[in-house]
Amino acid sequence: MLAKEIVDALTQIAGKENIIVLEEDLLKYGHDETETIQHTPEIVLKPNNTDQVAAIMAFCNQNGLPVTPRGAGTGLSGGAIPHMGGVVLSLEKFNKIINIDHQNLQVITEPGVITEVLQNAVKEKGLFYPPDPSSKGSCFIGGNIAENSGGPKAVKYGVVKDYVLNLEVVLPNGSVIETGANVLKNSTGYNLTQLMVGSEGTLGIVTKITLKLIPLPKYDVLMLAAFNNLQKASEAVSAIFRAGFVPSGLELVEIDALKIVSSMMDSHAVPVHDGMAAHLLIELDGNHKEILMQEMEAIALLLENFEVGDVFFAEDEAQKNELWKLRRRVAEAVKSAGYTIEEDTVVPRAFLPDLIVGVKQLAQQYGFKAVCYGHAGDGNLHIRIKDPHTTTSFDAPHIQQALADLFMLVKKLGGTISGEHGIGLIQKKYMPLVMQEANLQIMRSIKKTLDPNNILNPGKIFDMQ
Ligand code: LAC
Ligand code: ZN
Repeated sequence: MLAKEIVDALTQIAGKENIIVLEEDLLKYGHDETETIQHTPEIVLKPNNTDQVAAIMAFCNQNGLPVTPRGAGTGLSGGAIPHMGGVVLSLEKFNKIINIDHQNLQVITEPGVITEVLQNAVKEKGLFYPPDPSSKGSCFIGGNIAENSGGPKAVKYGVVKDYVLNLEVVLPNGSVIETGANVLKNSTGYNLTQLMVGSEGTLGIVTKITLKLIPLPKYDVLMLAAFNNLQKASEAVSAIFRAGFVPSGLELVEIDALKIVSSMMDSHAVPVHDGMAAHLLIELDGNHKEILMQEMEAIALLLENFEVGDVFFAEDEAQKNELWKLRRRVAEAVKSAGYTIEEDTVVPRAFLPDLIVGVKQLAQQYGFKAVCYGHAGDGNLHIRIKDPHTTTSFDAPHIQQALADLFMLVKKLGGTISGEHGIGLIQKKYMPLVMQEANLQIMRSIKKTLDPNNILNPGKIFDMQ
């Protein structure tokens, strides 16, 4: 329980209408989408301008109160969970797109704008902001910056970090900085913008964002290719790039995941036959439709070297939307079918088949099922486990052990444990598996410089020790 003087002072700073203290209202701020972990905060503050955020941080810093910043709460690594209690600082009222600068192909926005709302707003002006996490219809752009999110388009267009030009950030002591400038090139000192991107709300609170935009491609074509052999499907992925193609989406969905999501959505868009093992969903985009069609046919031909089965070209927007919707809802579907949290492994693309073979071996060794799907074109494979004894992983020692084995394999293949979800709370114990102690020490000293009292999202990514 926070002392009355503290609550009074925070109410004074944030305004009575921007504060939550009632237990039943606090509950939803105690979790994100990370399994069943719940740590209810003592207070939620919902400031609506940078000065308020700065005053809150200055006060909390002086009083040693932990502050957990929060976007839409769609995270999958526990970054927004206030596991030390204290304050949740929600950016939900920072929900305005400030300016779409058509002249410079930039957008300036507040962090609490829903990613898809931002994408649609710039699209109306013929512009494109590509990063498209599966939760794009509910996640906030600020949370995407905190996690350096990706999504299917990353394979051609890159992830969030590739679009962030400049940030307004409130530091843990309450001072406000701009990290860079609204320019496309910047060699002016250390890159503080990119230090903040992916820092999971541990170094500062982003209150204003300048993003780079690109022209919207005129056309896209989408193909779904079925395989009877999962490994062959994964081998085809890197061959597509080696043959000179750059898809704007190259996703893999294993058959069990497809069956579960089709049934959840009551969709018959993808016919399922006996023996089918996986599908590749391949998208190409650009400004010349004929070239896209020719390239897609060439890719289909190439897939024959990998024992491809049925190949299906989406004919219209409705078919494309249905296929993408199925893909985007896989995570939710397999979760509700009793699978554990989504792992976010990433390896050099051509080693994806080795990772998949290793995953299946581990599943056999540990006696559970493992389903694979994700951004194959990036070597970014999501894996979920179905175990007869538990539906959560964070509190199950045998699953934790299996994950440690998985991550050792990932490391051996030259990869790492998170491509787009972040480390947060639940992956931090694995950091030493993929990172040298020296790297962790550098991160701790950066944290200490910016947040000497360790009040901002403490205990995320790594412990200070
Ligand atoms: C996905 C998200 C959840 O790829 O990472 O479905
Ligand atoms: Zn993903």
